[in-house]
Amino acid sequence: MNVCDDPVALNDWYVVAYVDELGLGKSEQTQLLGEELELMRERDGRFRCLWHKRDGTAEPLEHIRQRYGFVWVSLGRPTRDILTIAEFDDGEPRRFIHRGRIGVPSSAQRVIENFFDLSHFSFVHTGTLGGYDAAEVPPYRVEYREDGRELWAVGCSFFQPKASAAAGLGTQVYYDYRIASPCIAIIYKDSLVRPGKKDLIGLFVQPCGEEHCTVHSFARVFDETNSDEHILHFYHEIFAQDRMILVHQRPRKLPVHPRQEVPAASDASSVAYRRWLDRSGLQFGLERNLT
Ligand SMILES: [Fe+2]
Repeated sequence: MNVCDDPVALNDWYVVAYVDELGLGKSEQTQLLGEELELMRERDGRFRCLWHKRDGTAEPLEHIRQRYGFVWVSLGRPTRDILTIAEFDDGEPRRFIHRGRIGVPSSAQRVIENFFDLSHFSFVHTGTLGGYDAAEVPPYRVEYREDGRELWAVGCSFFQPKASAAAGLGTQVYYDYRIASPCIAIIYKDSLVRPGKKDLIGLFVQPCGEEHCTVHSFARVFDETNSDEHILHFYHEIFAQDRMILVHQRPRKLPVHPRQEVPAASDASSVAYRRWLDRSGLQFGLERNLT
């Protein structure tokens, strides 16, 4: 097996842990882009990471940061900073909820595409994020921002029987999707309890290998009534439904060629995501050959 030689993948930033998952003085093994890493938390709280190379040597990672409560690393030379999420610093009383990390035997890109796909709500999350009687996806716009380095779907709306742990009756929900890099997606969803404000749900997917990944996720939501346990239970139920779909998708790498897996008209977001990935030059986790 070769060392990852994909510069686009190597130069990106990835989350490898949630800060509080690792106790002071502890270490853990993890994988990123098929490479073996050892993440250590010093007694003073700082993180270090060793890259165990295939020739038996180990190299400390130069690019390691803490941001948004997570530990980020890059194996290459990052061409830009870790994404900015303004809602972490806007002073609004959103709760931060770490939603844990969940392994998925598929590519990170399959996970992001599923998260970004509006047409699956009614069939995969029936009774919560969608229902059979309102399966139609209203039009939305796909936009490229930050010189094409971010992909957004804006003006999305959907009737959701139970849009969040805080939701009472079914309601029309409005939101925007942001794909800030191939393995990072955030939903900005209109808050049901604070009109005019947004709740955030984010996925930072760690591409451990081309066909397996770890999903780190968080929510920043306006919700003063539900317990963390109740909110987490809601999210885990939703993600378990997504995971059931993801484990069965083949190939596990995401095909980018337009002749493969021709999507339905409502899958404009999926088509845009695949084209955007294709143009990025990324190889890792993508199926670029016709099969
Ligand atoms: Fe889903």
